[in-house]
Amino acid sequence: MNKFEKFTEIIEKIYAINPDENFGDKVFKLFKEAVDFDEGYIFFSNPERLEYSFNPRAASLKEIQEPALKENLEFKNLVFGTIAISGKAFTQEDKKIFRTFASIISNLIKDIELTKVVKMQIEALQQGYIETREHSQKIKEADKIKTKFFSHTTHELRTPLNSILGFSELLGNEFAGKLNKKQKEYVEDIKISGINLLGLINEILDMSKIEANAMKLNLQTFQVSLAVNEVINTVSPLIIKKHINLSKFIDNITLTADYQKFQQILFNLLGNAVKYTQENGKIVIKAKQEQQNLILSVKDNGAGIDKKLQKTIFKPFTQGDKIASNSTGLGLAITNELVKLHKGKITIKSEPEKGAEFIVSIPLAQKWDLYRSLH
Ligand SMILES: Nc1ncnc2c1ncn2[C@@H]1O[C@H](COP(=O)(O)OP(=O)(O)O)[C@@H](O)[C@H]1O
Ligand SMILES: [Mg+2]
Repeated sequence: MNKFEKFTEIIEKIYAINPDENFGDKVFKLFKEAVDFDEGYIFFSNPERLEYSFNPRAASLKEIQEPALKENLEFKNLVFGTIAISGKAFTQEDKKIFRTFASIISNLIKDIELTKVVKMQIEALQQGYIETREHSQKIKEADKIKTKFFSHTTHELRTPLNSILGFSELLGNEFAGKLNKKQKEYVEDIKISGINLLGLINEILDMSKIEANAMKLNLQTFQVSLAVNEVINTVSPLIIKKHINLSKFIDNITLTADYQKFQQILFNLLGNAVKYTQENGKIVIKAKQEQQNLILSVKDNGAGIDKKLQKTIFKPFTQGDKIASNSTGLGLAITNELVKLHKGKITIKSEPEKGAEFIVSIPLAQKWDLYRSLH
């Protein structure tokens, strides 16, 4: 076997090298079988990267003991280093073999470098992907816990609050004995604070249910006037305290809807009307039928809502400039969701300083559910 044949065999072995940190050692060891030399070097143009040197004694290209063979390491005409062997008088044959060797090493190193970079990029991407996935998982879990926490605590808060409201009602009606004027006033204050707090708790509970997609309609057929009167009764202490003149025009209408949610819609609108109307103000509640829809409206002569706010008012946590106490900015967002759940629509008519009117339109019966279950 002549030198060239031997070299071809060696090249095959070089290609089979696993490109790890001993690449230089391995390459030169193999090459030594084709051309004899003492020391081999691979220098990179970037001096920090003297990575692949075999038995290196020289710190730079100039220090290499002569006689030596040197070839540039090139990739697409770009010189990125030098390969050298030294220690012997080399023949013409050696020179030829070495030149080929240098060009093969150039390609191999470039390959290794590229593979390294690509590998690093892939690793970074994978790491990023894992982190993002873990992160979003955590967010989802935290969100679930938050929703659970809210609905649990608000439930727990609602029960004692209802008994505060119930007992202050009993006291106020003097079932447990006569009250003097001051006592009556205090009991009324307890009741009003309780109603406000209940409103807040309900808003948070409803919002967390909406977020969890857990809002379901519990359909019932009922008289609109009955549901409206109950809501007015609940809110009446607030209305009386502010000396608001409330009038109602409720037609005789039978509605199929979720009773409690329908009341919540009116409670939120009426609550706002009371909240955002000055003392001695005026509120009008109307319910009438138009084609197959119930039209429910709550109109006040309070501060009104400017055009800009009207556009975002149904988004959660949206509030006007004058933020009232007992406010979360959730009421209208929830109201809007509840109306949508009934396949209805809510609109605003308002002129700043003159008052606001909220108009809800919902179908008299939830026919689409029947339709849906048949198809
Ligand atoms: N009847 C109304 N008159 C004037 N402004 C209103 C009325 N109803 C709602 N708003 C405005 O819309 C905002 C959002 O209402 P809402 O979602 O019920 O939140 P909150 O009552 O908790 O502030 C209120 O902060 C208020 O600025
Ligand atoms: Mg409100």
